[in-house]
Amino acid sequence: QQEQTLVLVKPDGVRRNLIGEVLARIERKGYVVTGLKLVEAERELLEKHYEEHVGKPFFEPLLEFMMSGPIVAARVEGHGVVEGFRSLAGATNPTTAAPGTIRGDLGRDWGAKVIENIVHGSDSVDSAERELAIWFG
Ligand code: CMP
Repeated sequence: QQEQTLVLVKPDGVRRNLIGEVLARIERKGYVVTGLKLVEAERELLEKHYEEHVGKPFFEPLLEFMMSGPIVAARVEGHGVVEGFRSLAGATNPTTAAPGTIRGDLGRDWGAKVIENIVHGSDSVDSAERELAIWFG
C-alpha cells in the first residue's frame, strides 16, 4: 500500500557530497520525494528520534556523530517504500552491506566509535509515522 518513510542523509553522507547520489537512487527506484530539508539537528530532537537506543553503549557517540554536521531529512513516498528503502540502504554495517546497496557501495568502516553508515531509513510503518512527526512536524 502507499506509504511514507523518513530518510536521513547523515552527517558523513553530507560531508562526502552524497546527497545527490542518495536522492538519485531513491528517485531512480521510482519513489517520490515529498519533503526535503537540510537541518542541524539538536540533541533534544535526536534523543526523541533514537529513543529506542537510550542506554546503549553507542548512544552518546551516535548523538555526537549526528550533531557533527548538517543532515538532510527527506519524506519519501511509494508503495512498500518503508521496506523498499531499507533494501536500497543495505545492512547497518557498511563493511558487510551488500554491494549494490547505498551502504555497500558507498560506505566503509572508518574506525569511528559509532557505525557511520550514510543513511537512515525508518524500520516500520509505525516508526515512519513517529519519525516523520519528529522531523517534519
Ligand atoms: P540507524 O539506522 O540510524 O539506527 C541506529 C544507528 O546507530 C545505526 O543506524 C548506526 O549508525 C548506529 N549503530 C547501530 N548499531 C550500532 C552498534 N552496534 N555500534 C555502533 N553503532 C551502531
